[in-house]
Amino acid sequence: MSDALGLRDLNLNLYEPHKEIITYQRWFGRYARSYLSDASSQDKVAMGLKLVHSQRVRKLAKDLALCLNLAERQVFLSELCGLFHDIGRLPQFKKYKTFFDAKSEDHAALGVEVLERHGVFSDLGQEEKTHVLDAIFVHNKFSIPKAFQGQRLILSKILRDADKIDIWRVFDDYYRKGSVTKDVNLGLPPGRTISGAVLEDLESDKIVRIEHVQNQLDFIIMRLSWLFDINFKHSLGIIAKRNYIHTMFQMLPEGKEKEIVRRKITALLEERLGR
Ligand SMILES: [Fe+2]
Repeated sequence: MSDALGLRDLNLNLYEPHKEIITYQRWFGRYARSYLSDASSQDKVAMGLKLVHSQRVRKLAKDLALCLNLAERQVFLSELCGLFHDIGRLPQFKKYKTFFDAKSEDHAALGVEVLERHGVFSDLGQEEKTHVLDAIFVHNKFSIPKAFQGQRLILSKILRDADKIDIWRVFDDYYRKGSVTKDVNLGLPPGRTISGAVLEDLESDKIVRIEHVQNQLDFIIMRLSWLFDINFKHSLGIIAKRNYIHTMFQMLPEGKEKEIVRRKITALLEERLGR
């Protein structure tokens, strides 16, 4: 390629972050292949779903960091959080054949263990490494620990938003196109009504606790209740624009419970998005 502008001589470090993420992507690919190579075709589909999710969360985390005008290095760290946040899903699925943490192991803790054992972040500064691993560790917890501040907090918030946005995408695909495996529903029964404890959580503006989830309808309400835990207006904007909420509503049976849910979610969106 010609270099009429003399860019090569300028030695711009503009592309450095790009180069760095490629190194991490290579490790990610190698690690993933070691699990996929001897898996059955059904298991490949299930694990493949998580690999696609990881890449999408990486991109979303990067985009959110850019929207927040973070420094280039923090954009890169956000991208790393996204790419590796679910790496523990591979050993989890291989060993237990489920993505349900309660019936297996905490996949975030498992992921941190994998990343540390393989020294994946050995090129990062000590503080950066701790912040990325902490963000990964808390991405699936009920809330971010109060002690988290500064970069550790911002990475955790970005990752949690990016993760939720893409989990909604996975379910949206499932409901609208039937395009993914049944593993997305954690083996829950379909259910006819929303459980009382689930509705109570939602009515008190709380995220529905996974322990309260008895069936797939409860699981829909749990995912809707994640809206209470979305950190950035920009994330809510993406969710609203992509119509994920509408799709989830369509899956709920008509009745007074659905109305309660509708009122709650509409009020929340009006308050946060100023609609
Ligand atoms: Fe996860």
